[in-house]
Amino acid sequence: MGSSTSTSPQPGRTQVAIIGAGPAGLLLGQLLHEAGIANVILEQRSPDYVLSRIRAGVLEQTTVQLLEQAGVSERLRREGLRHGGTELAFDGQLHRIDFEHLTGRCVTVYGQTEITRDLMERRASVGCTTVYEAQGVSLHGFDGDMPVVRYRQDGVDHELRCDFIAGCDGFHGVSRASVPAPAITTHEKVYPFGWLGLLADVPPARDELVYANHARGFALCSQRSRTLSRYYLQVPLQDKVDQWSDDAFWDELRRRLPADVAECVTTGASIEKSIAPLRSFVTEPMRFGRLFLAGDAAHIVPPTGAKGLNLAASDVGFLAAAMREHYLERRDEGIEAYSERCLRRIWKAERFSWWFTSLMHRFPEAGEFGHRMQHAELDYLVGSPAASTALAENYVGLPLELPTRAMAAAHH
Ligand code: FAD
Ligand code: PHB
Repeated sequence: MGSSTSTSPQPGRTQVAIIGAGPAGLLLGQLLHEAGIANVILEQRSPDYVLSRIRAGVLEQTTVQLLEQAGVSERLRREGLRHGGTELAFDGQLHRIDFEHLTGRCVTVYGQTEITRDLMERRASVGCTTVYEAQGVSLHGFDGDMPVVRYRQDGVDHELRCDFIAGCDGFHGVSRASVPAPAITTHEKVYPFGWLGLLADVPPARDELVYANHARGFALCSQRSRTLSRYYLQVPLQDKVDQWSDDAFWDELRRRLPADVAECVTTGASIEKSIAPLRSFVTEPMRFGRLFLAGDAAHIVPPTGAKGLNLAASDVGFLAAAMREHYLERRDEGIEAYSERCLRRIWKAERFSWWFTSLMHRFPEAGEFGHRMQHAELDYLVGSPAASTALAENYVGLPLELPTRAMAAAHH
């Protein structure tokens, strides 16, 4: 994608102003467009910068369905890898959790970067406006009837009037920060370690993902395709990427994996290497008058359960349904229920992500008793169909209970 900025002239009015062109903002834009609802996206970065962020890789079936509704599933269907299970490693052994057998569902491995690219291309082809490199975005009047978003581009000030604002601008964005403090409650847990991720042009060690609990710390073998691997290591929060040469990464990864998996790791030069802190975070409520928060702007999960992108997708699924009801059916139940519908699903994904993180990582303060508890739980998990099913049904994704009338409208 070139470094194009916006379709000119700058629009002065739209129905829904979307802040942020991450997966939440781009997917919402396409779902609204498909329903005939006008929208403009304001993004502070360039398209190339947005596409350079390497993040999620595992999609729930409901996320795939929403991408289908948004008209961007063609390449995903062709290139996405269907995974019917995952492997857990501990005590030098591998144990497979068979999602398909236990739940009848599976997940799709397809990079967030690819979803973003597909959505950007689709948006450009249908002629929707995205203003990239929008500086100093500020939100006004969302507690009344006439919200306005102000921003600067190429040194010129602009004003975008709208009916609603969707705050899809991630954890550090301006939308959540624009809500007066007394109106918002946040809940947060910060973990005492981060994930060092490495992307390399090498075939993955195994056909499916491997989540490894090891005395030296957690490791994850993930992938983007049959020739592109993504690996992660639990590292202390103080570690800097420069301290980790590629060789040091590969050596540490192999130490944390069962011997037969370690043997299958193909090493190579890293394409990308970065450290992400781990956090659980929830904002309540998620609607403030005519401002809706969605995705990482409203909540963060530690990545162990692969839920962040999927939650961003389900939020915008609820929001697009609420907007369709408002504009096409003149009903506002979806708007009124937005926050509660999202949060019910979010808290369950928060619980799962916190639990799976707690089970798989080394917590320095847990001591030997804590390690024995982890070991006993892992042993129970892989031996009990009931416990395996609980993991599987959360991992493949809890059902998205969209209001049926809005779903029906979406299919017409
Ligand atoms: P973002 O992707 O953060 O997008 C927000 C956008 O808003 C950005 O483009 C930003 O530039 C823009 N913005 C910010 N501030 C402003 C402003 N003031 N004005 C205008 N624009 C602004 N999730 C999964 O589901 N599965 C996984 O396997 C998974 N793995 C992950 C691995 C790692 C290492 C990490 C870090 C995350 C992972 N996630 C995963 C989480 C997932 O990547 C995020 O939840 C997802 O990116 C959220 O999308 P979003 O659109 O809400 O926010
Ligand atoms: C990834 O491929 O980036 C990935 C996969 C599974 C996770 C987290 C990240 O749980």
